[in-house]
Amino acid sequence: MMKYNSFYSESIQDPEGFWREHAQQLAWDRFPTEIVKKAPNGANHWFADGELNMCYLCVDRHVEAGHGNQVALYYDSPVTDTKAHITYRQLYDEVSRLAGGLKRMGMEKGDTAIIYMPMIPQAIYAMLACARLGIIHSVVFGGFAPHELAIRIDDCRPKTILTASNGIEVQKIIPYKPFVDEAIALANHKPESVVIYDRKLGVHIPKHDYDIDYDTLVKESEPADCVRVPSTHPLYILYTSGTTGKPKGIVRDTGGYATSLKFSMKYVYGVDEGDVYWAASDVGWVVGHSYIVYAPLLNRNSTVLFEGKPIRTPDASTFWRVISEYQVKVMFTAPTAIRAIKKEDPEGLLLKKYDLSCLKHQFLAGERCDMATLEWTSEKLGVPVIDHWWQTESGWPMLANMVGVELQKIKPGSAGFPVCGYDIHIIGADGQPCGANEEGYVLVKQPLPPGCLLDVWNNTPRFVAGYLERFPGYYFSGDGGYKDEEGYLYITGRVDDIINVAGHRLSTAEMEEIVASHPDIAECAVFGVHCDLKGQRPLGLAVLKSGTTIASKDLEKEVIHNVRKEIGAVASFKQLLVVDRLPKTRSGKILRKLLRNIADKSEYPIPSTIDDVAIIDEIKQVYRLHNLGNFKQQTT
Ligand code: COA
Ligand code: AMP
Repeated sequence: MMKYNSFYSESIQDPEGFWREHAQQLAWDRFPTEIVKKAPNGANHWFADGELNMCYLCVDRHVEAGHGNQVALYYDSPVTDTKAHITYRQLYDEVSRLAGGLKRMGMEKGDTAIIYMPMIPQAIYAMLACARLGIIHSVVFGGFAPHELAIRIDDCRPKTILTASNGIEVQKIIPYKPFVDEAIALANHKPESVVIYDRKLGVHIPKHDYDIDYDTLVKESEPADCVRVPSTHPLYILYTSGTTGKPKGIVRDTGGYATSLKFSMKYVYGVDEGDVYWAASDVGWVVGHSYIVYAPLLNRNSTVLFEGKPIRTPDASTFWRVISEYQVKVMFTAPTAIRAIKKEDPEGLLLKKYDLSCLKHQFLAGERCDMATLEWTSEKLGVPVIDHWWQTESGWPMLANMVGVELQKIKPGSAGFPVCGYDIHIIGADGQPCGANEEGYVLVKQPLPPGCLLDVWNNTPRFVAGYLERFPGYYFSGDGGYKDEEGYLYITGRVDDIINVAGHRLSTAEMEEIVASHPDIAECAVFGVHCDLKGQRPLGLAVLKSGTTIASKDLEKEVIHNVRKEIGAVASFKQLLVVDRLPKTRSGKILRKLLRNIADKSEYPIPSTIDDVAIIDEIKQVYRLHNLGNFKQQTT
């Protein structure tokens, strides 16, 4: 077995040589001669003169090599009581015909398409059909409301939107098509068409002039061939929360991404071709893009598409059933999902009903993993449980225990070591390196390895300002962390206004804008507080306009409704407290961190003026009434 240290060093000392070699694992239409170069916006362009097609690598190539009968997709939907085994040959038929349909609709390389679909095979067919033609897809998570969808429509200006009649959340029907119609009505940009997959679950589908029926389109179309694209051609735009109210469209390339994903399956996850791999996420998030769809298919794995929850579909044994039924070798989920299971089945009795001997490694990511969750999972599953760290921007793991290279001792609380290609540094606000166990910003020295973001769609200044400018020569991850004496890295959380609720990345600035727009609210603050199940949850504090008489409960109800309507249920915004005043700095900035620390029972500095002390006392009173905080003060 190759040793991690030498393998990692090789990737940092000779990035070009290292990634040239690993790029050879792909079937390029034209193998690159240029390996990495700096683009005008400061991003790295990997394999710029190479040409390839992602769909070909994920589908056609495996059929051509005689693996057409291997299962590509295990679709398991406890919410509809449906299971389907889709082979690579069937995947080829579905995807190439849908691509033929898109072509017939006049879609071509460089166009954009939004995919707003639940966890059904058609979502994957749609992604791959776009990739087949060089159409840049933007998948929008189904938990986002029409207003959020409209923002994305206006930003990426899709020629078409692919959607479905409905989604199902446990038992609740989510009306996707009406949401799409509402979003189009709200948006300034009007797509030419909406392709609707009717799930035939008896849900009413409102009709519109721009509608195209998915099944008819596929039935009436001839298969389309793959279109060669340059390595730096955008495969997709994936919107993620930033520190302002407006989400940012992370742009991913094709060749660098394919190289890094293929590499990661072998060396990070320890998965061989033909194995079964399961990422229990949603195609609307980066984990879904990379590890439900592209990486396992590139690596000729069988991937599991699970339309359910870790609990309530029907109970806390569902994950264990899926692992055992499909012989999953490696699984990936968020710590929240494990916490939900643990809460329902603390002794792990449900787990004992299944033979899980197929499982070799359990990976966790998406949010900070608390030690109790990691320890419970290792004890119950009896396999190494690997916490690893990455983000939408990177597209693949940045910190991990690279089990395909060498399994290192696991330290609960740590997300492991830098993955090959990532030269990670902990730097203080003064730009100086931090010592062992000293917390600072987590930065990556340029060049970033293949697969990381190319730009922010339509907004290069935001890309430069958000990621590159703050610490020249480094990529700014937005996370804080530290390194211990043995080189293990620990991620302590975001250093900005982004919060992580049940593994979902959300912007408190966006929520704050919605809360502030209520006519009775003079000013407000929204910040993340600790939640035993979801890791964090948003909490709002509001000061009323003078003379307002609205009852706090009514105000809370209205504001919760507004956030749900504008962002979506996924925001999990469920609490708004009315206070008399908010603590501020001398320049008028609300002290959100202080408010959060008091609510989270963390230590906090004693306010400097008598007035500040009085404001904090008032807030503490309100928290006390709602069972928040323990008001311990730092004495220095
Ligand atoms: N479409 C529509 N609505 C959705 C949705 C989707 N795809 N996903 C979530 N929602 C809704 C939920 O129905 C819920 O609505 P409600 O307030 O009306 O009940 C709300 O958004 C919050 O959903 P969620 O955060 O999933 O909370 P939950 O209480 O329903 O479930 C967990 C709790 C822990 C079981 C769940 O959050 C979970 O499975 N977490 C793991 C997340 C994960 O895998 N993240 C991937 C990142 S790697
Ligand atoms: P997203 O872009 O939605 O994948 O969210 C990325 C953010 O989630 C990171 O910037 C971190 O703040 C957080 N995150 C992801 N994985 C981990 C982890 N293993 N430990 C701590 N935080 C994590």
